[in-house]
Amino acid sequence: VNIRRATVEDLLAMQNCNLHCLPENYQMKYYVYHELSWPQLLYVAEVNEKIVGYVLAKIDEDMSNGLHGHITSLSVLRSHRKLGLATKLMRASQRDMRETFQAKYVSLHVRRTNYAAFHLYHDTLGYKINDIEAGYYADGEDAYDMRMTFKDSS
Ligand code: ACO
Repeated sequence: VNIRRATVEDLLAMQNCNLHCLPENYQMKYYVYHELSWPQLLYVAEVNEKIVGYVLAKIDEDMSNGLHGHITSLSVLRSHRKLGLATKLMRASQRDMRETFQAKYVSLHVRRTNYAAFHLYHDTLGYKINDIEAGYYADGEDAYDMRMTFKDSS
């Protein structure tokens, strides 16, 4: 498996992976917007020239805290889960948030019932729950607003 930066040519495959994995889907222009704005933060996992996972991320400017990274979307195809790919995709994007953009922390939203993703963020990567956003998702489920402050080791 090859973990590498995404290019414009990967965006359709990333959208396709997202459609297979998550109910939160985006128009192609939103992928293009990420790729043109923060090309350093988009990564894909590729096996035999097929995209099996991606991370879509951006930089947000917070008036009080300065720049921070935000994970817009992450998924890995069911056939390639529990191989450590999501962990590698997240670490790659987080490294560039810190090194390229001097981000102070990274944030994301995750469904309260998404145990696999919560384990990845909380236990594997060290994110903490910052807040709970009631009814954040279209179907009414609450989101954990999670954050991780960058340290030298993250
Ligand atoms: N149950 C329990 N633990 C799990 C599960 C599971 N189903 N899946 C992964 N884990 C654990 C792994 O054991 C590993 O733990 P460890 O570090 O203690 O060994 C850790 O989570 C990371 O595992 P990876 O192999 O790196 O994760 P994977 O490549 O399987 O991808 C992901 C995890 C992205 C959550 C995948 O299950 C997926 O695509 N799910 C559907 C889409 C989704 O929920 N995406 C996240 C939405 S939130 C957002 O996009 C901001």
